[in-house]
Amino acid sequence: MKSSCVRFRKVFEMLDRYAWLDEDYERLEKQALTRQIRSVDAVLGDRGAWIRVEGKTLLNLSSNNYLGLAHDARLKAAAMEAIELWGTGATASRLVTGSCALYTELEQRLAAWKEREAALVFASGYQANAGVISALVGRGDAVFSDRLNHASIVDGIVQSRAEHYRYRHNDPEHLAYLLEKHKGARRKLIVTDTVFSMDGDTALLPDLVGLRARYGALLMVDEAHAGGVLGERGEGLCHALGLHREIDVIMGTFSKAFGAYGGYICADHSVVRYLATKSRPLIYSTALPPAVIASVLTALTIVMKDAERRKSLQAKAKWLRERLASYGFSVGEGDTPIIPLIIGDNEKTLRYSRKLEEMGIAAVAIRPPTVPAGTSRIRLTVMATHTWAELEWAADQLQSIRADLEGGIG
Ligand SMILES: Cc1ncc(COP(=O)(O)O)c(C=O)c1O
Repeated sequence: MKSSCVRFRKVFEMLDRYAWLDEDYERLEKQALTRQIRSVDAVLGDRGAWIRVEGKTLLNLSSNNYLGLAHDARLKAAAMEAIELWGTGATASRLVTGSCALYTELEQRLAAWKEREAALVFASGYQANAGVISALVGRGDAVFSDRLNHASIVDGIVQSRAEHYRYRHNDPEHLAYLLEKHKGARRKLIVTDTVFSMDGDTALLPDLVGLRARYGALLMVDEAHAGGVLGERGEGLCHALGLHREIDVIMGTFSKAFGAYGGYICADHSVVRYLATKSRPLIYSTALPPAVIASVLTALTIVMKDAERRKSLQAKAKWLRERLASYGFSVGEGDTPIIPLIIGDNEKTLRYSRKLEEMGIAAVAIRPPTVPAGTSRIRLTVMATHTWAELEWAADQLQSIRADLEGGIG
């Protein structure tokens, strides 16, 4: 009797222990804000354009594989060769024994590509942002961050314990006001995405460079969605505007146009040397597997040389954006392969995404907190390896259910 009472109490405690999670989950469910991890069963072919998800074949308009390199035979061959030479894992942090010679080659080539003194590779873009910001600023400092910056920037600021001032999106006047108001802070850091990940528009870098000089602030930019996509040799927005020497830290990722994984920064020697000593994600997380670095090295060669691929991406993105705008979609202000179809309501956005999936298109719904409340959207991304026929078909599918969208689908 006693033992069954104890067992009952234990079961009750277990149930009760997670009741708050279930309650919160149900609250999120009512607001159409829960998220599910879907299993991609297969990528069909080497263009990365088609995937099979839970038995359905879908045109992938939701990846960041802008140049279509993630399934490129050259990247795969480089990775396999590196596995033969170096094995599958890095076995330790970069500061212990995890930094194989491929890293040195990659960092030298990155610094040369970006025309900066030095580069530092991190295990991911998230770690680069979080690790750089939390090392460069701390208590008594102030970070000025665009309201639409990526979550990894926000998390880096929170970890740093510096004061966090969010300026209105792409509003240099508001930034100047905040800089003036907090000019007494010990150190000031301005940070921005160069291409905004959910909107596809670009930062007003010349204004930010001017404010950097006026207020003696540091300026850090996140080129995650610009690397490989903008600039003559895919360097990013800073190069495209000739401002790459006016910026303290240029951050980027290999997880998008490079078709691989990892993050990096390019900066002056002093900055890189300091970060290698102070950045916690770099110190306390295992280095990327050598095979990843090998595929990134191959991707870098392609990114730098294959201007045709970049031009094709730009032409296709421009075409799709214009076609969708001509159909009456609200496509945002950008000029990049990220095309947001702003819908607003969470539930409506989910329904539209599901309907597109039924029609054979993977176009994922993006909802808060990834985007501000009331701006839920379908975020379309174009790849250089999409064919014109695929994009035409997709545009027609999107249009064919637009009327349903206006009136509410389902
Ligand atoms: C603007 C931006 N910065 C940083 C990251 C993080 O990069 P990674 O996926 O390499 O961790 C992302 C990716 O989602 C991003 O969109």
